[in-house]
Amino acid sequence: MKPNLSIIILAAGKGTRMKSQTAKILHSLCGKPMIAHIIEESLKLSDDISVVVAHQSEDVIEYVNSQFKNIKFITQDLENFPGTGGALKNVTCSSKKVLVLNGDMPLVKAEELEKFLGFESDIVMSIFNLEEPTGYGRVKIENGDVQYIVEQKDASDEELQIQSVNAGIYCFTQEILETFIPLLSNNNAQHEYYLTDVVALAKDSGKKISPLEVSQESFKGVNSKKDLSDCEVIMLDRIKTHWMAQGVKMELPSTIYIEKDVVFEDECVVEQGVKITGKTHIKASHVKAHSIVEDSFVSHSDVGPLAHLRPNSNITSTHIGNFVEVKKSTLKGVKAGHLSYIGDSIVDEGTNIGAGVITCNYDGKKKYQTIIGKNVFVGSDSQLIAPINIEDDVIVAAGSTLTKNVKEGSLVLTRAPLKVLEGYFYKFFGIKK
Ligand code: UD1
Ligand code: CA
Repeated sequence: MKPNLSIIILAAGKGTRMKSQTAKILHSLCGKPMIAHIIEESLKLSDDISVVVAHQSEDVIEYVNSQFKNIKFITQDLENFPGTGGALKNVTCSSKKVLVLNGDMPLVKAEELEKFLGFESDIVMSIFNLEEPTGYGRVKIENGDVQYIVEQKDASDEELQIQSVNAGIYCFTQEILETFIPLLSNNNAQHEYYLTDVVALAKDSGKKISPLEVSQESFKGVNSKKDLSDCEVIMLDRIKTHWMAQGVKMELPSTIYIEKDVVFEDECVVEQGVKITGKTHIKASHVKAHSIVEDSFVSHSDVGPLAHLRPNSNITSTHIGNFVEVKKSTLKGVKAGHLSYIGDSIVDEGTNIGAGVITCNYDGKKKYQTIIGKNVFVGSDSQLIAPINIEDDVIVAAGSTLTKNVKEGSLVLTRAPLKVLEGYFYKFFGIKK
């Protein structure tokens, strides 16, 4: 059962340091924007989730609504109430406990957030200790109780020495937010309404504030593209560690990229330099070096090296070799060993696709389908011009261009007669022989 909890995700900040046209929290790692990762973890704890938006809010709302149901949005009045405290100005909560998260912390896991709920305190706030705390709010703790948080820009020389920093995630009681958010002022170096000032106000009123030490790795915030790529490395490592524990063999895992929604089943091998994206499902298969598999299903097959399965490829008991590109095609019991393009096709058992075979699925305006039956031998360097249906037991001679359907049991070829002019080479270059 989910606890009685409201979750608010702060996502209104501008993200200037990303140097990007795209809203900060829409930048992706492991195939999904930061905001999607944090919403997915939040949904494990609560169905009452609000996202505070302002900068590029249309883009953020459109994306979130395209992926999730029932997420609420609160628009921050950035002009009059800037800052993390201003972000909570218009918020009303339905639950007694309110978890406040940041949209730019994509590595936080639900089980870590759950720890905030295990206290009988008015505020639980995340801290970690840093030898080099520059940039973070410093947390003054006495006898295990938090006294206040001071931002870097407002800190005295003595406060700047404090190594306990505010990781930026909090659990408040509803009463704390209702009482103290309206009392915040912007009397500070940045002229912003700091959420962190709620801590000192609550302390002065005798409220209990507990520090919760959290992992620096999981609570890493993204402010720049370097941070984004550092977080992606950590997330990739988690994904790969998980699948290796489930029995997937990975060669040189540091060179492998696997997105979060990829699923492996039974014993699989993934070689170096492989990229697997989207909702790909790989079962009892071997993906060889430097192949790319996107949003596809691969079962009892081997793919690569250097092959490309584009979205909606459905490959069963099939061999896909080097420089073969497959798109939106279903192949069952097929061999396509080298240098082919197979698009918008259905290819059946026992069929061999020779080197250099191309399904010509596009006429410049529309895409068409190619259907190839069982036991067909498609000779090298043939072009199959779609729409086309090649029935079972057909031989297509090398170098043919097929423009119409082929009946079961046929040999089909298009070939200009071979001409040989003996001695022509020597004549052409004027060589005496
Ligand atoms: C904040 C904390 C700081 C802490 C740090 C941890 C404050 C005043 N300071 O600083 O103590 O060490 O996080 O990472 O809270 N946001 C809004 N509206 C705004 C401003 C920010 O929604 O007006 C959102 C941002 O989109 C972001 C989050 O709040 O998701 C944090 O904002 P950011 O500017 O990164 O906070 P810091 O200055 O790093
Ligand atoms: Ca700031």
